[in-house]
Amino acid sequence: MQGKRGIIFGALDENSIAWKTAERVHEEGGTFVLTNAPVDLRMGAINKLAEQTGSEIIPADATNEEDLQQLVAKAMEILGGKLDFVLHSIGMSINVRKGRHYTDEKYDFTTKGWDVSALSFHKVLQSLFKADAMNEWGSIVALTYMAAQRTFPDYNDMADNKAYLESVARSFGYFFGKEKNVRVNTISQSPTPTTAGQGVKGFDGFISYAEKISPLGNATADDCANYTVSLFSDLTRKVTMQNLFHDGGFSNTGVSEEVIEIFDK
Ligand SMILES: NC(=O)c1ccc[n+]([C@@H]2O[C@H](COP(=O)([O-])OP(=O)(O)OC[C@H]3O[C@@H](n4cnc5c(N)ncnc54)[C@H](O)[C@@H]3O)[C@@H](O)[C@H]2O)c1
Repeated sequence: MQGKRGIIFGALDENSIAWKTAERVHEEGGTFVLTNAPVDLRMGAINKLAEQTGSEIIPADATNEEDLQQLVAKAMEILGGKLDFVLHSIGMSINVRKGRHYTDEKYDFTTKGWDVSALSFHKVLQSLFKADAMNEWGSIVALTYMAAQRTFPDYNDMADNKAYLESVARSFGYFFGKEKNVRVNTISQSPTPTTAGQGVKGFDGFISYAEKISPLGNATADDCANYTVSLFSDLTRKVTMQNLFHDGGFSNTGVSEEVIEIFDK
């Protein structure tokens, strides 16, 4: 990552996947700007990360095009050139927060959640594309979850948001590849104990279940940070438009011996 510059969205607190990624990228010699929604910056936890990594914080609501355009321009100014990597680590569902069942969605909640969790990725990509902000062979990563492919009932409308997000990575990945030699991928991460993760009903039971199903055990936020760094590095230049499962093997496991034992009386 030496000499590489970027933007990291979504470090809320020490548990955030984006927080761990920022620490890891810093360790590997990368420099970056940290950003989050102004309302989520209020708590101020991110100041510690900024100090620790020598980074500046630029507030931006990822649903607001003007904020994003300013963020991209300022980031290039602060970092002294075009960008090599961007992490989109953003998710939020008001239906989940308010305990609305999937069969009883309130659609203005649905629309807001989709804008924050899914369309924001298109907005980020479009802002970078139009500003010609990415260096050749740069890498853009967003985080997703397997509920985009298989049903997890309590994941609610976030399942649909993730399906949209993954599709955007493929569709925009085509144009970013053709025109700018930049790659766009999503990482489909194991359940991880963060603010967003723990907001999902039944999370504790589910994370233990996933741990027992996955032959390698759940991937942690630190593991995810390592994987993301590999995707930002020059060692994965021809990987693009992919949804990459980072889940200890969960997605390809039907059942494990540990889970069978529970039912085999
Ligand atoms: N935790 C899990 O189990 C898990 C599993 C797979 C994928 N993911 C995905 O990982 C990503 C990061 O989540 P996390 O688990 O680290 O939780 P987190 O709560 O720490 O991070 C979510 C971030 O989204 C930010 N955000 C919300 N609204 C925003 C807006 N309008 N503009 C800009 N930022 C906004 C929040 O401030 C927060 O920093 C999300 O996309 C999430 O869906 C999480």
